[in-house]
Amino acid sequence: MKFLSFIGALAIIVVVAAAAFFFGGFYNVAATEPNSSVVDWALTYIRTASINRYAAEQPPIPIEDAAIIQSGARAFASRGCANCHGAPGVMWAKFSEGLRPDPPDLKDVAKDLTPGQIFWVVRNGINMTGMPGFGLVEAPDREIWAIAAFVKKLPEVSEDDYKAWTAETGSAAGEGAAPR
Ligand code: HEC
Repeated sequence: MKFLSFIGALAIIVVVAAAAFFFGGFYNVAATEPNSSVVDWALTYIRTASINRYAAEQPPIPIEDAAIIQSGARAFASRGCANCHGAPGVMWAKFSEGLRPDPPDLKDVAKDLTPGQIFWVVRNGINMTGMPGFGLVEAPDREIWAIAAFVKKLPEVSEDDYKAWTAETGSAAGEGAAPR
């Protein structure tokens, strides 16, 4: 019984201390302050587990279709993805270097994600990161699937392909930073 009340008292102390720490403003949310490796590990783990659980949809369109991939490239350019992620031959915007977490280079992560996972992330976004939910700004699902088809293809897309596919949109470029 003594042991149980000890555990109970300890639990109350931990809760009060955590409340004082977080609500007292001691946790530093500045992007200039790197997360501790435990926080980083937890956030990455939680994000991956969440995407694995929720992203279950199969593509309703043929994602290997060249016309769809190219329309996805145009949507990628016009929706501003390249500002944060860059694109073949396109610099990301300088401000994206100030985002924490850092927007990944999509051609490196494309192989680890299914089309359904890419669709889900682009449609719903990732809370508390810079990744917007494009479903919230009424991007149609069909367009988001085309974007997913393009992102999946990214490792094979050359700079010339991207330039040709996005020629009409005119908003492919970010401004000023080194190529990723
Ligand atoms: C304002 C910056 C910003 C814009 C614009 C943006 N993203 Fe992101 N994106 C991010 C950040 C930051 C992350 C990383 C989130 C994280 O680490 O949890 C991310 C993550 C992702 C991921 C998940 C990568 C992974 O490893 O799980 C995909 C896919 C993605 N973005 C695609 C897109 C596409 C496609 C667009 C355009 C329709 C887009 N993003 C627009 C900032 C952005």
